[in-house]
Amino acid sequence: MAVLTIKDLHVSVEGKEILKGVNLEVKGGEIHAIMGPNGTGKSTLSSAIMGHPKYEVTKGSITLDGQDVLEMEVDERARAGLFLAMQYPSEISGVTNADFLRSAINARLGEGNEISLMKFIRKLDEKMEFLEMNSDMAHRYLNEGFSGGEKKRNEILQLMMLEPKIAILDEIDSGLDIDALKIVSKGVNEMRSSDFGCLIITHYQRLLNYITPDYVHVMMQGRIVKSGGPELAQRLEAEGYDWIKKELGIEDEMIEQEA
Ligand SMILES: Nc1ncnc2c1ncn2[C@@H]1O[C@H](COP(=O)(O)OP(=O)(O)OP(=O)(O)O)[C@@H](O)[C@H]1O
Ligand SMILES: [Mg+2]
Repeated sequence: MAVLTIKDLHVSVEGKEILKGVNLEVKGGEIHAIMGPNGTGKSTLSSAIMGHPKYEVTKGSITLDGQDVLEMEVDERARAGLFLAMQYPSEISGVTNADFLRSAINARLGEGNEISLMKFIRKLDEKMEFLEMNSDMAHRYLNEGFSGGEKKRNEILQLMMLEPKIAILDEIDSGLDIDALKIVSKGVNEMRSSDFGCLIITHYQRLLNYITPDYVHVMMQGRIVKSGGPELAQRLEAEGYDWIKKELGIEDEMIEQEA
């Protein structure tokens, strides 16, 4: 069973500290949700876990099954079983969706263990049908010209094809119509097993009606300031974030003054 452990993580972007001591543990079989106001560092956390070069870890640790993730190159992190569905998926012109997926799967399986073309096609057809995707999406260039919702659904296709140990889904629900939200949720629920842990970043409790999280965390000003169960998400939906600020005595961040 996989365990992603984040301890006292501090991350800076261009010299400015964004994450100020994040502690979190996601185990196989668990679904965690992170909620929090805009600009509090949720996507920064996912970028730091995946090794985006702009995000400098200045303190703390990230381990996957005891292995130091911070020592790994970006591709090694994916090979080790980490996966990120990005808030803003990138478009890659000239590479078809199917080619991209096959290379990604083979990179994950490693040399000598590549998936056969037959097996790949069967799996791709099966997952695309499950996600009610039009088969021509496989042969279009990755995310190029995809609608917002199509991109999100395509991220879930990647998730289902790659079968990571730990997945981070950054606002996978943003821009989805109601039917698409159900299909994307169905995909995530299909992945649920003791071999799969998931960290879902979302603004809306609505998604969590379909994917029931085991834990809900609130991130504010670069820290996880409160954790609870699904009822926490319901309270946030109803009341917003002010009550947490009051409860914890958090002041609205002062605008930094130029010296
Ligand atoms: N590449 C970057 N360059 C400059 N500033 C950045 C960069 N990435 C993040 N930041 C800053 O770090 C802070 C946190 O951003 P982040 O994207 O992590 O927020 P978030 O919690 O995901 O917000 P949202 O809910 O709006 O997606 C913001 O003030 C943002 O401007
Ligand atoms: Mg974000």
